[in-house]
This record gives sequence, C-alpha cells and structure tokens, in this order.
Amino acid sequence: MATFTLPKNSTIGAGKTYKAEPGAKNVKAFKIYRFDPDTGENPRYDTFEIDLDKCGPMVLDALIKIKNEVDTTLTFRRSCREGICGSCSMNIDGMNTLACLKPIEDVKKDVRITPLPHMPVVKDLVPDLTHIYAQLRSIEPWLKSDTPPPPDEERRQSKEERAKLDGLWECILCFCCSTACPSYWWNGDRYLGPAVLLQAYRWIADSRDEYTGERLDNLEDPFRLYRCHTIMNCAATCPKGLNPAQAIGKIKQMIVERQG
Ligand code: SF4
Ligand code: SF4
Ligand code: FES
Repeated sequence: MATFTLPKNSTIGAGKTYKAEPGAKNVKAFKIYRFDPDTGENPRYDTFEIDLDKCGPMVLDALIKIKNEVDTTLTFRRSCREGICGSCSMNIDGMNTLACLKPIEDVKKDVRITPLPHMPVVKDLVPDLTHIYAQLRSIEPWLKSDTPPPPDEERRQSKEERAKLDGLWECILCFCCSTACPSYWWNGDRYLGPAVLLQAYRWIADSRDEYTGERLDNLEDPFRLYRCHTIMNCAATCPKGLNPAQAIGKIKQMIVERQG
C-alpha cells in the first residue's frame, strides 16, 4: 500500500540555533538541513544567525562563513564559486539552484536550504550522485566517430553546425533540472531525466559525431526517454537558463522522423 507520510527515521526535527554575535545589526537566519548517517539520528534543521554586514552577498558566502566560523562539520560541495562547476547545486528557498549564484537578498524571509530533492543524502547538503552519473555514462557523452580526424587539424564545423550546439554545451551538470522533474522523482531508476537527455541530444546534434542512429536506438525506450511529460519544471529551474524539455522534444522528433 502507498505510504504518504515520512517514515519515522526521516522526519526532520528542530536542531540547534547559533545566535548572531551581540551587536550585529543586519542579521539573517539560515535554516539548514543537517543529516549524518553515521550518528543514526534523524535529520534536523539547524539555524544559523549571520551578520550580513560581515558576509559576502551570495548564499555560498554564508555557507562558507558558517563552516569557517561556526560549525566546521557543515558539509556541502563547491568549487568554482562562479556558476561554472555545478558543484554547489542545492534547494534554496524552495527552488533548486546554485548557491554561488543565489543572492542572499533575493530571499525575503529566513533562508531555508536543503539538498537537491529526491536523492539519497550522503551528508547534510551533499546528495549521492552515483546513479545519475551512471545514467550519464550510459549515453556515452563523448564524440564517437570512425573517421579519423584530419592530420594536423581539428574536425571542422560550419558556423551553422556549431550553432546547433548552443543551448546545450553550456550545461554544467548541476542536476538542478533532473531533481526538479516529477517524472524523474517517480521513475528515476529507469527514466534518464532532463540533464542526461540534454547531454544525449548535445552529441546527437553534433555534426562531427557519426553515431546518431545508435544514439537514438539507445534512447528509444518507454522509460529512458518517454517518461517526459513536458511539465517544464526543468526549464524553470535551470540556473544556466537552458531548456532540457526542448532538447527532449527534439530527440522525440528525430525518432519519429526516421520512422517516416
Ligand atoms: S519537461 Fe520533461 S524532463 Fe522537464 S521537468 Fe517535465 S517531465 Fe521532467
Ligand atoms: S540543464 Fe541546466 S539544470 Fe540541468 S544539469 Fe544542465 S545546467 Fe544544470
Ligand atoms: S561553486 Fe561552482 S557552480 Fe557554484
């Protein structure tokens, strides 16, 4: 029978509150999901009051300040701090986004931060990406060509051929889209989800790749591709402004066209 309440060991309890320094005038509260599987304890929200006059402008600045100055056990991923690496994706104020690109001032009330939804949690804000990376590997995200490259030269594309990759190459694999997709929540074991399908189309659309037919064969499956119901959460949440649903539509269109 379906269960619509969280199991007892998943309910989120109230955690600790770390008060701002006395005299701080510009204080903002960050309510952060904490979970450490090694303790056997339920997850909790800890509250960190931060003096914004002594903090950088982005949510990632606050997380780094908390880790450096308040609680060194707070765990999250980050690297580039400028929206390039895709590491700092998390749910902030109810929306999947990149902590390094999210201005604190955009959140009017307390800043609630949780890991990307519907993923197993390794610790605190770190989701387990093992399965989604295996799915990415399954679409072979690299150039496949039997024709050797010209000697002393790159494989050339016309400007028009190169333009077909715009809106695709910019993807930083943050997985904000896949973890916002209801179809991926329910069928993520077999549905590839928007991030991986956008990557699949990036190689299908590449004029230098010679495996288009095999790539389409690999996707033509009721679960791997056709669980997308064009709900568009993916495009709404992508912090790079990309449209995975459109890429998925193009794959479906190519599969229809090759049948005719
Ligand atoms: S459009 Fe498709 S991939 Fe995007 S959120 Fe909806 S179901 Fe998921
Ligand atoms: S399409 Fe956008 S949200 Fe999805 S993985 Fe790529 S950059 Fe992230
Ligand atoms: S730290 Fe690299 S995208 Fe945010």
